[in-house]
Amino acid sequence: MGFRTRQIHAGVTPDPITGAILTPIFQSTTYVQPSVDEYLSKGFTYSRSGNPTVKALELKLADLEGGVDCACFGTGMSAVLAVMLAFLEAGKHAIVSDVAYGGTYRLSTKILSRFGIDYTFADTSNPDAVAASVRENTALILTETPANPTMKCTDIAAISEIARKIRAVHAVDNTFLTPYYQLPFELGADVSIHSTTKYMDGHNATVGGAVISKSDEHAEAVRFIQNSTGTIMSPQVAWLTLQGCKTLSVRMDAQSASAMAIAEFLEAHPKVEQVMYPGLESFPQHELATRQASGYGAMLWFEVKGGLTAGKNLMDNIELWSLAENLGSVESLITHPVTMTHADVEKAERDRVGIIDGLVRASVGLEDTDDLINALAAALEQV
Ligand SMILES: Cc1ncc(COP(=O)(O)O)c(C=O)c1O
Repeated sequence: MGFRTRQIHAGVTPDPITGAILTPIFQSTTYVQPSVDEYLSKGFTYSRSGNPTVKALELKLADLEGGVDCACFGTGMSAVLAVMLAFLEAGKHAIVSDVAYGGTYRLSTKILSRFGIDYTFADTSNPDAVAASVRENTALILTETPANPTMKCTDIAAISEIARKIRAVHAVDNTFLTPYYQLPFELGADVSIHSTTKYMDGHNATVGGAVISKSDEHAEAVRFIQNSTGTIMSPQVAWLTLQGCKTLSVRMDAQSASAMAIAEFLEAHPKVEQVMYPGLESFPQHELATRQASGYGAMLWFEVKGGLTAGKNLMDNIELWSLAENLGSVESLITHPVTMTHADVEKAERDRVGIIDGLVRASVGLEDTDDLINALAAALEQV
């Protein structure tokens, strides 16, 4: 069936007792077993190990992404953590996109490196740089594409090929495009990660994460971490995310169309220094973005002429757009990564990977495109 049908129906069946069309919120710690010999016969034992509401969302996301299994987590960061714990151990080495989300960088450099795991932050947009970073103990390559916030893209097929040759796991953080626009498994990746906080929920209502696996072996490793670390998503969050997912493609199409119009508006504006949106022909990796995804998404960044001071002035004074962290919601958000989402990345590293001080990140929501453009025009006018 098509994506729109699956985003509504996959994983969900009417409640067998009441006929309720929505999977109920199963707010229960434990599940009564029919007998010792029939332990687990109904599929659930204890809600840290599995919960029927969470399961419905896991089945839906596995279906949308084309994987064998999905494990849902309390946040996107606990999903990233689960991937690292599942495929790395002391003495192993991981290659991570040097432009990955700031939290992924912090988790690697400030926590997991303390446990004997080595990291190389490589420019994964360049397969040669990834190949040059490979060591004999490289067990995981984690790429984020397009990356937060630079929008730099990584060629998933090329990196999957490198991972395959060295028998490492290639995990792709697919948060920005979702399986509606980008299917990492079809391009050779092994594992797909989401902060469901973003487009999957779409309504600024929850924080959550998901890891989808292409093989049973990888799925089992991730499930083991989900249960052992106690980082499973809560049933309320799963329920809200189940509802949000039903309109994923409709929201993404509308938000992406607005993002394109806004990127074109900004590119033509005399007070704007530069705009980065994969849909623009001027985007350095426009060809790759077009080749490996079926849409460009609704994230972009721009720099106002006058750099940081001018950018701050715009963000402090703009109407309609909210100055806030998060992305992917129906509300349009504007963010200053240097002081907000990527504040924990050292300045030298930020400068090296292109997170410039004046970078203004925009998450285009579902409001009328004209209203969003008019608000930007007014804010630029007074800069
Ligand atoms: C690409 C990406 N991955 C992971 C995360 C972490 O997700 P969460 O905030 O749900 O923990 C984020 C959060 O912004 C993100 O943008």
